[in-house]
Amino acid sequence: MTCDFLVIGAGIAGLSFAIRAAKHGSVIVLTKGAALDSNTAWAQGGLASVLPEGLRDDGDSIELHVADTLDAGAGLCREDVVRAIVSEGAATVDDLTGYGVDFDKEGDHFALGKEGGHSKRRILHALDTTGREIAESLVEVARNTPNLTLLEHHFTIDLITTGRLGMVTEDRVIGAYVLEKATGEVRIFRSDRVVLATGGCGKVYLYTTNPDSATGDGVAMAWRAGASVANMEFIQFHPTCFYNPAAMGPEARSFLVSEAVRGEGAVLINARGEDFTKKVDPRGSLAPRDIVARAIDREIKKTGAPCVYLDVTHKPAGFMRERFPFIYEKLRSFGLDAEKQPIPVVPAAHYQCGGVVTDVNGKTTIRGLYAIGEVACTGLHGANRLASNSLLEGNVIARRALEDILHHYGVEKNTDDFPEIPAWHHGDVAVPDELVVIYHNWDELRRLMWDYVSIVRTDNRLRRAATRLRNLKKEVREFYWGHRVTADILELRNLVAVASLVVDCAIRRRESRGLHHTLDYPGPDEKFLRDTVIRRF
Ligand code: SIN
Repeated sequence: MTCDFLVIGAGIAGLSFAIRAAKHGSVIVLTKGAALDSNTAWAQGGLASVLPEGLRDDGDSIELHVADTLDAGAGLCREDVVRAIVSEGAATVDDLTGYGVDFDKEGDHFALGKEGGHSKRRILHALDTTGREIAESLVEVARNTPNLTLLEHHFTIDLITTGRLGMVTEDRVIGAYVLEKATGEVRIFRSDRVVLATGGCGKVYLYTTNPDSATGDGVAMAWRAGASVANMEFIQFHPTCFYNPAAMGPEARSFLVSEAVRGEGAVLINARGEDFTKKVDPRGSLAPRDIVARAIDREIKKTGAPCVYLDVTHKPAGFMRERFPFIYEKLRSFGLDAEKQPIPVVPAAHYQCGGVVTDVNGKTTIRGLYAIGEVACTGLHGANRLASNSLLEGNVIARRALEDILHHYGVEKNTDDFPEIPAWHHGDVAVPDELVVIYHNWDELRRLMWDYVSIVRTDNRLRRAATRLRNLKKEVREFYWGHRVTADILELRNLVAVASLVVDCAIRRRESRGLHHTLDYPGPDEKFLRDTVIRRF
């Protein structure tokens, strides 16, 4: 298959790009699951945007949104990138409403919510299922866009670059090897404009708010292809994942209680009913996430309690049912009435702030390869992402990436010097018979990351994690080369690669900053006021 634009991933970033690109050439969008399996579809809170004067919160401005983003990012945001993205908030809202996204309104104006680290109300939302509203609208538009083919259940194994083929020219991307899950066949997709929009890597951790698909595929592929990757030590833990020890199944284990609930007045308390976050930051429950997650971690360790509580019981009856109906009903299905009982919560892995290094147009260090959304490290998030900035970033960078591609490469396919791509060579043996090896390694990986590389780290724990990961990598490599590829093997291979990148980056940062907190270096250090950039070769 050959196309002008090959897009890998079908969340807000991938589809915002694909729908626009289809006006200029043929587009194929590959997604490893169903179209709505993206992390975007799971987003609850909303999209941060400063609207035009008269529609925004009193006193809000682009400059305030920039300042809040820089403050959360703990010194590592790129200010020019922050300003460029935040300035395009209103354009993003126009773009999405144009695709049919129905944000909540109060009268004629958009209703604006608040989340941690934001000094003003600027979160557009669709009740508490904003991501689903966005994902459904974009998928619907994509399915009806001429020139755009959306292929579900197609798992991209690896990028194909001229370097990988051993050609001595400037390294550039020329396509991808893709597993068609229904048949088990591996096909070649040829394109010299490839966009990674595969989301993040929450599944590296035992507890996460992310869907099962968040296995770091894009970062792992880009890394193997030789692209620069940065700041993988900055994994954001969301403070309020529902704590439900009796839960069976990933949906019950990973259930997020949106920060927007705190934005509307919910307060974090311990078992004695004390608002413990106030001792750490005057903003209390609405301080940026790194601060709140660490305060919870400390409280849990100090008291020996398994969780803390999110208390909404002081709000008027009907508050949860009306403003957060999805969360309310879901908690009810787990046997909890949030209007009458505090909600038990714990932090869980939520967002990857680092990723494939790009400029403000999504351009990576490999020619023709772009990365947009959570998979990318543009410099917007720095050491800690400000809540609800990510849906904004996904849409803005998608538009900028297309402009950049059209500017640099035009629309014409570069078929003249398109090299012959060898067919995929399957590993020996037939289908893997010992699936238990995969599941065991998967569990071990996620637990060791949780125990050694989560909210609070030490040199010792990181070294232990690195040693264990080296062994896991070896086992997974043998398994990968010795069997026909399956989605499970591919995900495990990517998880191990990404977990190793998180640990490698964390070992290099010998200070505490933003989401990276280590007991061995408890404060920030000017020497490390820079990105942790790493490359395979
Ligand atoms: C939430 O609803 O709390 C998540 C919002 C975000 O991560 O940006």
